[in-house]
Amino acid sequence: MTRTELPYDIAIVGLGIAGVPQITHEAEETMRRCRHVFVADTGNGVAEYLRTLSPHVVDLASEKETGAHRIPIYRRFASHVVSAALAEPPVCFATYGHPTMFCYPTTLIQRSAVVLDLKVALVPGVSSLDTLLCDLGVDPGSDGLQMYEATDLLVRRRPLQNDVACVITQAPMVADALNRPAARDVDNLALLQAYLLKFYPADHEVVLATSSPHPLLEPLVQQVRLGSLAAGLVQSAQLTTLFIPPVARRAIADAQLAQRMRVAGAEPVQAAAGAGSAVPTRPGRPNIGPQQPAN
Ligand SMILES: C[S@@+](CC[C@H](N)C(=O)[O-])C[C@H]1O[C@@H](n2cnc3c(N)ncnc32)[C@H](O)[C@@H]1O
Repeated sequence: MTRTELPYDIAIVGLGIAGVPQITHEAEETMRRCRHVFVADTGNGVAEYLRTLSPHVVDLASEKETGAHRIPIYRRFASHVVSAALAEPPVCFATYGHPTMFCYPTTLIQRSAVVLDLKVALVPGVSSLDTLLCDLGVDPGSDGLQMYEATDLLVRRRPLQNDVACVITQAPMVADALNRPAARDVDNLALLQAYLLKFYPADHEVVLATSSPHPLLEPLVQQVRLGSLAAGLVQSAQLTTLFIPPVARRAIADAQLAQRMRVAGAEPVQAAAGAGSAVPTRPGRPNIGPQQPAN
């Protein structure tokens, strides 16, 4: 297939979180096929690596003027990509992580493409949610997952379920619209802490997690009590995500269905007994399934 026959004018690809090793073959192949690649990823060696795939790589990092409002910065990203797509399609916007995971330039490019009748293809990447689940060993299948952007959480006063794990992105820069990676506003962080305290006790242990940007580095995982969240976030890395574990397991509401489905905890205690228990267990093996909280 030649470039002109490709079924898109703009490809938007995710590059992953941990640098070059997390770029997928699918993303690489897509970038090779595009005439221009616009990259928004400050990962070590990423832009340099993309230059081995494409002769025309534009590093958008220089557009991220410190102290400027983030929205006009993202509009400029989108306008570079869309203008190039009108002139010399196909082009690629390559961004860190996953391209539709809290990535406003992707939204702007998609909206402009509708108006300008340009075709867009999206290629997934490893997101910070993916890496966080691995760093913390969390499986949302047990208790579910809620995920919010920190400022949006406060602005809309979104309700939180404290028996469901919660992921909050952009917590260190909550309520700050400017691109100031190193800045931390203690008053804004205190607003976030106060809002979360409406749903969780002050001694609830939460996690500040920063996934590794490079295979040779370990992730940073720090536990703090919710009552000290603001103090913890003041010192956190810019890309820290806040993870709040559930305070308790939600009680089973439909006992009959739970028994039919052999849900762990559907029948009290007998679960470890083997024959006749709600959850099949092997004799002599401990019950390692999810436990009901002691009341
Ligand atoms: C604008 S969003 C972009 C997310 C990105 N598109 C993705 O797929 O993860 C930035 C937020 O993602 C999260 N994030 C990005 N990189 C991270 C990392 N290395 N470790 C933990 N969280 C990260 C943080 O919550 C950060 O504030």
